[in-house]
Amino acid sequence: MSKIGLGIVGGGTIALRVLRHLVQRDVAQRVSLAAICDPVADRARAAADKFGIARWFTDYQELLACDEVSAVTIASPINFHFEQVREALLASKHIHCNKTMATTGAEARELTQLARERNLRLVPSPGEMLRPHNQYIKEVIRRGDIGTLCWAVCGAAFGTYHEDERERQGNDVLSNIDPSWYFRKPGGGPLYDMTVYPLTALTGILGSVLRVTALSGTRIKEREFRGKMVTCDADDNTVMLLDFGENLFAFAHGTASGRITQGFSGNYFGTRGSIVGLTINGEPLNYPGAEVARRAAGDANIGNQWLLPHINEHHCDLPEQHVFEDVMQLVDWVAEGKPSLVTPEHATHVIDIIEAAYRASSTGQTQTLTTTIEHA
Ligand SMILES: NC(=O)c1ccc[n+]([C@@H]2O[C@H](COP(=O)([O-])OP(=O)(O)OC[C@H]3O[C@@H](n4cnc5c(N)ncnc54)[C@H](O)[C@@H]3O)[C@@H](O)[C@H]2O)c1
Repeated sequence: MSKIGLGIVGGGTIALRVLRHLVQRDVAQRVSLAAICDPVADRARAAADKFGIARWFTDYQELLACDEVSAVTIASPINFHFEQVREALLASKHIHCNKTMATTGAEARELTQLARERNLRLVPSPGEMLRPHNQYIKEVIRRGDIGTLCWAVCGAAFGTYHEDERERQGNDVLSNIDPSWYFRKPGGGPLYDMTVYPLTALTGILGSVLRVTALSGTRIKEREFRGKMVTCDADDNTVMLLDFGENLFAFAHGTASGRITQGFSGNYFGTRGSIVGLTINGEPLNYPGAEVARRAAGDANIGNQWLLPHINEHHCDLPEQHVFEDVMQLVDWVAEGKPSLVTPEHATHVIDIIEAAYRASSTGQTQTLTTTIEHA
């Protein structure tokens, strides 16, 4: 089996965590680390030195021009994703893109279409439906174990997660990474970065959303990062209502603080019971691998990552196993022709929901969606 030559775009927090997986023996047999690029030259060079990446660049075009790169993983700030994915597709590269691959539905549709036309693989994180517990929740609801489903709730909050990340607290180029972009337009805010997980799970479990309405704005106008004040203009406080049809509704949030669910799967309420976190009617959910997940890390919400297909003894103690899994979904698809269930169509539908929420908030009008999780 020939190795996939991987280019890494952005050498920041997530790239540094995922590279720890990519240098493990089982991956090294399948993936060669062909190149990395980052506009911060010292960071690109230092990451290449640390992880044995063959080449480093500050210019993305140079990475794309590199014949040894057949696939790229995009790990730059979200506002660059659309252009970078588009340029990679035009350069005939297969792509894994960190969430989210674009900030508007039209952009996401363009990327989905381009990948299809050029017969290239596009795997956009997050691959929430790769997780056995989400597949199990879908099945439990489908077969009516909690009666007629009436409503669901899901969401995520920023808190100070990004300000506090370890990779941002040091004094060298690999540990002094500024998170300010997370709080600025375009591409900033908890919806694109965090609520995208629960929205992907919710729609994977319940199906496509038909209508969206929301209220949204910037609650925290200034944040402090290492003594410096960061002006924030991205919406950081969004609450939305989703209509799945036949009067089945959900509430979803991407807020500056606070959460009302455990993990990212959401809570589901039916006429004969409820699924709350990883429980059903107060009892543990018995999804395949639940015992393993509960033993791992002492917290099944974290341990669930151990159940992903590529997480073995080389990876179970490393961070961000789910992002590594998404990269390997691309590798399997390219190398073995094994299609992933992490699809650009599903990602596009979630981006449409986010865009519709912002539009609903600014216009005061409920928005009707045209995409589904199968068709972008
Ligand atoms: N931090 C996390 O916990 C986490 C987890 C999973 C996924 N992600 C996703 O990964 C992506 C990157 O997030 P991060 O936290 O690593 O960001 P980061 O701020 O830590 O790093 C971003 C890196 O990209 C570089 N960069 C800036 N402009 C660039 C460009 N035009 N081309 C290439 N590189 C460029 C920066 O110099 C920096 O090194 C985002 O989509 C984020 O949602 C982050």
